[in-house]
Amino acid sequence: MPTLFDNFTLKGITLRNRIAVSPMCQYMSQDGVANDWHQVHYTSLARGGAGLVIVEATAVSPEGRITWADAGLWNDKQASALAPIVQAMKHWGAVPGIQLAHAGRKASANRPWEGDDHIPAGQPNSWMPLAPSPVAFGANLPRVPQEMTLTDIARVQADTVRAVERARDVGFEWLQLHFAHGYLAQNFWSPYSNLRQDHYGGSAENRGRYLLETLTAARNVWPENLPLTVRFSVVEFAGNDESIIADSIALLKRMKQAGLDSVDVSIGFNTPSAQIPWGPNILGDIAARVLDETGLPGTTSWYIDGPAGANDLISSGKIDFATLGRPFLANPHWPYQAAKELLVSDAAQETLPAPYAHWLARYR
Ligand SMILES: Cc1cc2nc3c(=O)[nH]c(=O)nc-3n(C[C@H](O)[C@H](O)[C@H](O)COP(=O)(O)O)c2cc1C
Repeated sequence: MPTLFDNFTLKGITLRNRIAVSPMCQYMSQDGVANDWHQVHYTSLARGGAGLVIVEATAVSPEGRITWADAGLWNDKQASALAPIVQAMKHWGAVPGIQLAHAGRKASANRPWEGDDHIPAGQPNSWMPLAPSPVAFGANLPRVPQEMTLTDIARVQADTVRAVERARDVGFEWLQLHFAHGYLAQNFWSPYSNLRQDHYGGSAENRGRYLLETLTAARNVWPENLPLTVRFSVVEFAGNDESIIADSIALLKRMKQAGLDSVDVSIGFNTPSAQIPWGPNILGDIAARVLDETGLPGTTSWYIDGPAGANDLISSGKIDFATLGRPFLANPHWPYQAAKELLVSDAAQETLPAPYAHWLARYR
């Protein structure tokens, strides 16, 4: 069985190890355009030795941002600003990935450190959130979204395709569609937020239609030799867990037939009443079941239990690579820390750039 520091190949892409940086919103863009913050942040993460670095949730249309400061990819200026960041990530040996997103009913919120709540209608940086049905998330996000018409649905799907083309053209090599965390795609998928009576609502097949159509449209323009992946919430911890997991596995099988290459198994965050049993490696067993039953390669995140926990998930065959978020905010050189803890001395050397490796990997 492989370990954390083995290569991982998917389609025409090989990761130098099985460590991925999870997409993490920085809420530091202006009009969706990346800047110095993003250049330094993503270059540091790539230089820190991860095999894959996935750029934060990047909105496919302006109303699809969680906050006014989210990244975007609905125009060429945004694409141009990402191009040097992609180049730097490649230069430092990471595969550059991007997560494309639409925030659905959670859109138009304040930045997390400025309240994390919906901005009321009519105030600066506020806009009308869109969703499959006029059902609010609740709690800190009480705004009732506007129910999408069929024209709205087609327009957001077209925006997604255009964003995929821009991501392709600036050199990203790994695409992740955000089908999780209570944003638009999951608003369609979840029976808690989709009350539509048309062919986008009701049965699991209908609720999955938006996701399947969007994935298929993305595959048509994303190169066949590059991984097309989704981050997908297969469980909400809000009741009906078993049927939601089973339905999610069935939908993933259909996505696989439509060209899906890999899945990052995640949690819903689609209702404030969810009771999530937080703990180390919380999604390990669920991810293992999803990957086993779908035959898809994949990963998970959320409280992975340090380097040893990540290595265990991989070497026991539960996941193919480990995806971490906050540990990389604390230390972009997490792969070096992991190599030291797991006593993999070659990797400790290789995960550092030479001006650091000479001093650290040699005299430890
Ligand atoms: C600051 C921050 C921003 C995040 N933004 C995103 C995002 O853009 N897309 C996403 O799918 N998850 C996002 N997440 C969730 C992370 O990708 C990750 O799954 C989560 O932090 C759990 O992994 P961890 O326990 O290793 O931190 C974010 C998390 C943090 C801490």
